[in-house]
Amino acid sequence: MNDVSAFAPRPAHIPDAAVYDFDMFRDSALLADPHERVRQLLREAPAVFWTPRNRGHWVALGHEPVFEVSREFDRFSSEFMAREQMQQMLAMAPPGMPYIPQSKPISLDPPDHAKYRAPLASVFGPKAIKARTDEIRALANALIDEVAGQGCCDFMPSVAEPLPVQVFLKMMGLPLERQAEFRRMVHEFLGPGMNEPMQAASRMRMIADAIDEVILARKDDRRDDLISLLWAAEIDGKPMTLETMEDFAVLLFIAGLDTVINGMGFGVRHMAANPDFQARLRADPSLIPEAVEELLRRYTFTVPTRRVAKDTELGGWTLKKDEWVMIYLPAADLDPSVFPAPEVFDLDRENKTHIAFGAGSHRCLGSHLARLELQVLYTELLTRLPTFRLDPDKPVTFHAGNIIAMDSLPLRWD
Ligand code: HEM
Repeated sequence: MNDVSAFAPRPAHIPDAAVYDFDMFRDSALLADPHERVRQLLREAPAVFWTPRNRGHWVALGHEPVFEVSREFDRFSSEFMAREQMQQMLAMAPPGMPYIPQSKPISLDPPDHAKYRAPLASVFGPKAIKARTDEIRALANALIDEVAGQGCCDFMPSVAEPLPVQVFLKMMGLPLERQAEFRRMVHEFLGPGMNEPMQAASRMRMIADAIDEVILARKDDRRDDLISLLWAAEIDGKPMTLETMEDFAVLLFIAGLDTVINGMGFGVRHMAANPDFQARLRADPSLIPEAVEELLRRYTFTVPTRRVAKDTELGGWTLKKDEWVMIYLPAADLDPSVFPAPEVFDLDRENKTHIAFGAGSHRCLGSHLARLELQVLYTELLTRLPTFRLDPDKPVTFHAGNIIAMDSLPLRWD
């Protein structure tokens, strides 16, 4: 069996001092209290380290190397395989092998990246997203009202999951009744093995298979949704093909179905543990947009990946072509050299520039949508529920990997 959690032997160019044993999927301290473990990593591990877990990879922890890796695409590529390797693989593929979607634009480097980002820009721009406010508010209210009378709920399945998932499926034009199936596929995609090219390829194909029916239906029957809009776009003056549509759809699917959920989970957990903070926001809701930003910094939760494009130096170590680097954004936002007392949630913090949405050319395209959903949810939750707290009898649970995700958030209120 292909054991992706296997220990890799330390390559000769990596000195002992660069090694720190960290399993980003299974580390028990990370799963118990994610951001406390991230702070421990910042204290104990080098700012850039190599771990033998999960086939061996680098981790950029510190604020400076995180920005360096995020921005310098000629050294740290978003392309899953070197182009020549990809061409070889495609040449060897048996005839009739199904197309493997590339999740564009996130898996492209400049200059190609910009061509594939452009068709999405207007749909995710601030104006288009703002127009969705009422729809998001109505959905948030319906979900909160369903649990309000119960005095308790598990916030993740009751509100944090269905809200952004339904907003996104509606935007895409995908059927709401299949949301549980779609979420399961994204969970599997992001689970252990996602950094292993063959596994990732078959998981991406599976997602494309699940949405092809809708993609094909929209080709000749355009509606007011993102899939229809993408069919109308051109890339390099050429019309869309089914393959390019799958490239876009697979990425949006992954980005849209497993991100905001966790932002909501971490934000609401912080509120539940801090009733004074709830009171402050209830008394002055104009603080909510700033609270959203500081919560995103305090509990940053995504970990993008890069492939080393050519032998290079980072954090004092030599990295070899085709090694993997995890950009540990949650650590960069808790780096004490940039954010004094980083563990303190502080609305009056001088430096408010967090990296929760990434940096460089791939900076999150969905940030306006994510921010709006978080702001609307917090506003409505604080209006419709009395002071809520963590359920002392039930633990908050997590899973981890390229997303540090919350599975369960049991809450109580009077
Ligand atoms: C709080 C919620 C979210 C967080 C923290 C987040 C975070 C990120 C990060 C860190 C990146 C950069 C990845 C990289 O450098 O490789 C990214 C890219 C991206 N995100 Fe988000 N995201 C969120 C929500 C969303 C939503 C709701 C959507 C759309 C429905 C979305 C769509 C995208 C897309 C399309 C990209 C790729 C952009 C490119 O390659 O140019 N994101 N996101």
